[in-house]
Amino acid sequence: MYVYALNIDEPGWLADMIASTLDLSLEERQALLAMADPSERLRKVSVLLGRELEVLELEESIQSQVRREVDRGQREMFLREQMRVIQHELGEADIFQQELGELRERIEQKEMTAEAKDKALKELGRLLMIPPMAPEVGIIRTYLDWLLDLPWLAQSEDNLDLAHAARVLDAEHYGLPKAKERILEYMAVHQLAGEQMKTPILCFVGPPGTGKTSLGKSIASALGREFVRVSLGGVHDEAEIRGHRRTYIGALPGRIIQTMRRVGTINPVFMLDEIDKLGADFRGDPAAALLEVLDPEQNHAFSDHYLDVSYDLSRVFFITTANYLDPIPPALLDRMEVIEFPGYVEDEKVSIARHFLIPRQLKQHGLEGRGVHFDESALRLICREYTYEAGVRNLEREIAKVCRKLARRVAEGKRVTRRITAAKLPAYLGPPPFLPMLAEETDEVGVATGLAWTEAGGDIMAIEVTLMPGKGALLLTGQLGDVMQESAQAALSYTRSRARQLGIEPDEFDRLDIHVHLPEGAIPKDGPSAGITLATALISALTQRKVRRDVAMTGEITLRGRVLPVGGVREKILTAHRAGVQQVLLPKRNEKDLTEIPKHVLRDLDLKLVTRMDEVLGWALLPPQGGPDSRPAATSAHDEISAGGDHAA
Ligand SMILES: Nc1ncnc2c1ncn2[C@@H]1O[C@H](COP(=O)(O)OP(=O)(O)OP(=O)(O)O)[C@@H](O)[C@H]1O
Ligand SMILES: [Mg+2]
Repeated sequence: MYVYALNIDEPGWLADMIASTLDLSLEERQALLAMADPSERLRKVSVLLGRELEVLELEESIQSQVRREVDRGQREMFLREQMRVIQHELGEADIFQQELGELRERIEQKEMTAEAKDKALKELGRLLMIPPMAPEVGIIRTYLDWLLDLPWLAQSEDNLDLAHAARVLDAEHYGLPKAKERILEYMAVHQLAGEQMKTPILCFVGPPGTGKTSLGKSIASALGREFVRVSLGGVHDEAEIRGHRRTYIGALPGRIIQTMRRVGTINPVFMLDEIDKLGADFRGDPAAALLEVLDPEQNHAFSDHYLDVSYDLSRVFFITTANYLDPIPPALLDRMEVIEFPGYVEDEKVSIARHFLIPRQLKQHGLEGRGVHFDESALRLICREYTYEAGVRNLEREIAKVCRKLARRVAEGKRVTRRITAAKLPAYLGPPPFLPMLAEETDEVGVATGLAWTEAGGDIMAIEVTLMPGKGALLLTGQLGDVMQESAQAALSYTRSRARQLGIEPDEFDRLDIHVHLPEGAIPKDGPSAGITLATALISALTQRKVRRDVAMTGEITLRGRVLPVGGVREKILTAHRAGVQQVLLPKRNEKDLTEIPKHVLRDLDLKLVTRMDEVLGWALLPPQGGPDSRPAATSAHDEISAGGDHAA
C-alpha cells in the first residue's frame, strides 16, 4: 500500500486513495469528496492522518502499561509459587504451620483476660492469612510473644502475717515509724476487707540516703511480693511510659508494661523512683500518662499504645519516691499518700551504722568474725566531720572505706587493729573534709547565720552585708532567686522604716551602698525564709552591733517586722543541732512542727519562738559597744505605730 501510494503522482488521486484506507465517519468522507481542489483535499487528509496517529500512540502506551502490570503480578505469583514448592521440599512450610499450631495452643492455655485472649486469637488468624515470608509476620509474632509473656492473672500469695511483717521491717530498717506503721495498717485492712480494698499508692519523700528505696524492698519481702524498681529521672517522653503504636518501626510497650513482663506477677511492689525528676517537653507529658498508672480509679484498665488491650494495674503496690515535693505535678501528688522520710540525727545515724551498715560492710569485705569494732566516738566523728548529709549513704561509704583498708592489711598479712577509735580514723580516711560548720569563728558585724532547706536536708547559711560609700543602692549577689531578692528588699524597707528606733541616722541610707552576699555563690538559693536573717545582718552592719555567732535563725519577714512561719523546720533544726548551734530563733507559728523533732535535740538547743523582728534582734545582736545587754527583748506594741513612718525615699 505504501509503495502504491508513493507511485501516485496525481494529488487528487493520492488524497482519495489514503482517505479510502482511513477509518472515517460517513460525514467526514462526504465532506472530503465534496472538496474540488486537490491540494485542499490533501491538507484535510493530512489532518485526519495526524489524528489517527495520536489515537494509535495512546492505545499503544496503554497497552504496554497493562502488559507491564500483568507481568509483575505474574512474576510475583510465580516466585511465590516457587518459594512454596521450595519450602515444601525443605519441609519449612510444615514447620510454619506447626509453629502456628503451637502458638494457638499456647494462647489457649495461657491464663489471660478474655479481652487479651480475643486479641491474641485475632492476631493469630491474621498470621494464618498472610504468606509466611511477608514482613508483617515478624511484627505479629513479636506482638503475640508480648501478650503471651505478660502476667495477666498470675499473682503471688500475700503473706498477711502482721507479726512477721513487723519483724522483717524492723530487722532491715531502724526507725521510720510512720512508713512502717502505714504498711502494717495496709496489711491489717487487707486482711479484713480482702480483695475489695484498693491498693494505696504511697509517695516516700525525703533527702537522699534516708532509706526510701531500701524500705520499699523490705516491704516487698515482708508482704512476700516481687519487687521492681523503675527510675523516672530524665523521662521526657510520654511513649516511655505508654509505648509506641505498633505502626512504628521497632515499636515496643512502655516501661510499665516492660517491667510487668519482667516481674511475672500482677501484684508486685513497684517502685517508681525519682518522680520529682520527671521531665516534660514537645514529645508529650509523661506525667499525664503516669496519672493513669497511679490513679486507683482508672489503673485497672491501663492502656499501653503498643499492647492495645487494657491492662490491669490495680493489684500493683505502687510506691513512688522523691527528694522534693515541689516539682511533682499537683494532679499526681493528689493521687498519692505522702510519707515523709525526715533526715536522721546523729544518734540515729550511730544506731543505723551499728546495727545495719557495719555488719553489712564487714560481711561484704570478708571481715566477719574477725572482731573488728568501731568505737562510738569514731562513728560520731565520721558523722560530724567526714560526712555532711541527712541520710546515711556517705556514712556507709566511709565505713566501707575503712573496711577496705582493713581488708588489704589482712590480705597482706599485716597486723590489724581491731578497734577503730576516733584517733585512728584519720589514718584510714585522711583528714576530715567537713569541719564542724559553725558559720563564724567569732562574733562579727554584718554576718548572720540562717537555716536553709536544701535537697541534702538542711544547711547553714551565712548572710553577709557590707556597706560602702555610695548613693543608696542595694546590691544582691550569690544567685538569689526572685523571692529571696524581694525578701532582701523587704528587710531593707523594714530597716529604713525603723531606722530611728534602731539607732540609725535615716539619711545614712542615701550616703551608702549596701551589698548583701550569700556565700557559696554558685549555688542558687531561693525562698522567703531568709527574711529575718537578712534583716539581722543588715541592721548589724548599720548599727555596728555584732551578731552572736552561736545563734541561727529562720523566718519570713513582713514590712512591719512581723515574723512569719516557714517550711522544712525539722530539717533546719536538725542541721542547726548537727552544726553545734546553741540557740535557734524560730517563728512562733512554727511551734506545731516541733512535735516531729526528737526530744533530746530539743533539749540540747535553746529554742526561741519569735513573732517580731525586735525579738530576733534582741536575741541575735550583742549590745552596742559598751552599752547594756539588750536581751531578752520585750515584745511591744509600739512597733506597729512607726511602721512605714520613716520612709526616707
Ligand atoms: N533506717 C535505716 N535503717 C537501716 N539502713 C538504712 C536506713 N536508712 C537508710 N539505710 C541505708 O542507707 C542506704 C541508702 O538508702 P536508700 O538507697 O534507700 O536511700 P534513698 O532514700 O532511696 O535515697 P535517694 O533519694 O538518693 O534514692 C541503704 O543502704 C540503706 O540500707
Ligand atoms: Mg532511692
